[in-house]
Amino acid sequence: MLSFAGKRVLVTGASKGIGQACAARLLELGAHVVALGRDERGLAELQGSVTPVVADASDAAGLRAALEREAGDVDLLVNNAGVARNAPILDASADDWDATFAVNARAALIAAQHCAKSMIARDVRGAIVNVSSQAAFVALDEHAAYCASKAALDALTRQLALELGPFGIRANSVNPTVTLTEMAAREWGDEAKAAPMKSRIPLGEFAAPDDVVDAVCYLLGDGARLVSGAALPIDGGFVAAPFNNAMAPGYDRSARTGRRTLMTAAPFSGGEKLPPCPTTRLHSHKEGNKEMPVLGLGTFTGTRFTQRAEPGTMKQTVKTWLGSGGTMVATAASAHASWRRTRW
Ligand SMILES: NC(=O)c1ccc[n+]([C@@H]2O[C@H](COP(=O)([O-])OP(=O)(O)OC[C@H]3O[C@@H](n4cnc5c(N)ncnc54)[C@H](OP(=O)(O)O)[C@@H]3O)[C@@H](O)[C@H]2O)c1
Repeated sequence: MLSFAGKRVLVTGASKGIGQACAARLLELGAHVVALGRDERGLAELQGSVTPVVADASDAAGLRAALEREAGDVDLLVNNAGVARNAPILDASADDWDATFAVNARAALIAAQHCAKSMIARDVRGAIVNVSSQAAFVALDEHAAYCASKAALDALTRQLALELGPFGIRANSVNPTVTLTEMAAREWGDEAKAAPMKSRIPLGEFAAPDDVVDAVCYLLGDGARLVSGAALPIDGGFVAAPFNNAMAPGYDRSARTGRRTLMTAAPFSGGEKLPPCPTTRLHSHKEGNKEMPVLGLGTFTGTRFTQRAEPGTMKQTVKTWLGSGGTMVATAASAHASWRRTRW
């Protein structure tokens, strides 16, 4: 059974969310936890053998000083503190960029330096886990600074693995998808918002904090003694399947059984009326009093939508299709946007 008895573990961002869940599990597994964050009350919620360190990770000098003063000799490190300042790419500000990198990437380097120096001095074969994100691998709407900072964090992980490996110190990243912390659950609890994202995850689920904690504990533990430099997605297969369907709301997971499906554009997508296009003008389908432009007609094979119908044969085929019990799927704004880019 996994045990961290006798280990001193620094967890940054331990006052809430994934970091707090991680700190709580490490305490259960016998570790002494050095819990770093700004919110004293959140840190005080942790019960057991805890050293709280109240520090602002975005202040490089202040963070170094706090670690030197209060962290002590750390055996294992979880770099979890993170922020997201999201904006459309044309509006992303230098301040947001710098503030994001200061916490998500620079603070992780500073904490790793502090801990690794002590590990090396004591000849401790320690481990570092950086809590990155699926955002390190894929672009997400309006997440420029966040995605870039998490990609930087993964690069730092590899660098730590390279340069600290000779001292027996391992470094890995975990890269979760949407993880339902209390705050995220409020944001993603709305099924209308969650459905398009979930429909692109082969396993069809968001992560729970415990899913991330399980992976962090594995990577910190001796069971991962030869694992270093990895970036481990905890994402139900999301980043492994970039061409998974992007169709929702209304996407019917049972359609994956190979049912023939008609794909239409939603009459309003992202609040904007669909611009005219030759195909949608030629082919439309009426649902009640709504005119639905038809984008495609095909079969779900696994997760792929195949067999686009030829323009001109579409209208008749649609009728036969629906008449014979075929399903209909409305596209999400994002799918519509990419379709528009490639087809208009
Ligand atoms: N939840 C998700 O969907 C998700 C998905 C993928 C990756 N992640 C990553 O997982 C990590 C934890 O996310 P979460 O969802 O648990 O977020 P959260 O609930 O907002 O918690 C963030 C933690 O980071 C700390 N933090 C932020 N800025 C800080 C600063 N300047 N100085 C010190 N501590 C700071 C916060 O502490 P204070 O408030 O006390 O300062 C808090 O404990 C982040 O790195 C995030 O990018 C989250």
